[in-house]
Amino acid sequence: MALCRRHAGLSATVVDLPGSARIGREIVEQAGMSDRLTYVEGDMYEVDLGGPHDGALCFSIIHHLTPDLTRRLFTRVREALRPGAPITVLDLFDREPGEQPGSGSFLGLFFQLTSAAATYSPARSAAG
Ligand SMILES: C[S@@+](CC[C@H](N)C(=O)[O-])C[C@H]1O[C@@H](n2cnc3c(N)ncnc32)[C@H](O)[C@@H]1O
Repeated sequence: MALCRRHAGLSATVVDLPGSARIGREIVEQAGMSDRLTYVEGDMYEVDLGGPHDGALCFSIIHHLTPDLTRRLFTRVREALRPGAPITVLDLFDREPGEQPGSGSFLGLFFQLTSAAATYSPARSAAG
């Protein structure tokens, strides 16, 4: 919604599971932005992502995913984008080799225990 407010010509497609999508739709409706934001409800590995889109935001999702599932997600997203369009990843990241562990490293342990996933370093996320 923030990006759509900032850029008059921008519209967005949000992919989420049914429970979250239901709440998200309510928030979007209350903000009076239902004409700009469309929800695609379902599993991001199965739903039609549409496109070609001009960019994609993958926010706070890859820490729930194994490296293999992250690759599958990014591949699907890339296929739904026009050539050269950016994929922007916002997440908690682990340290790079040689850096001190930080909160992202600690939360990686939490995600390992709860999702069997982890936090990944920015370089590892970019390299696949
Ligand atoms: C930590 S929240 C982040 C939500 C949002 N991207 C943000 O940054 O505020 C993770 C979201 O991923 C959604 N999610 C998890 N697995 C999914 C899947 N297989 N397909 C679609 N959405 C999924 C959850 O429903 C939840 O809304």
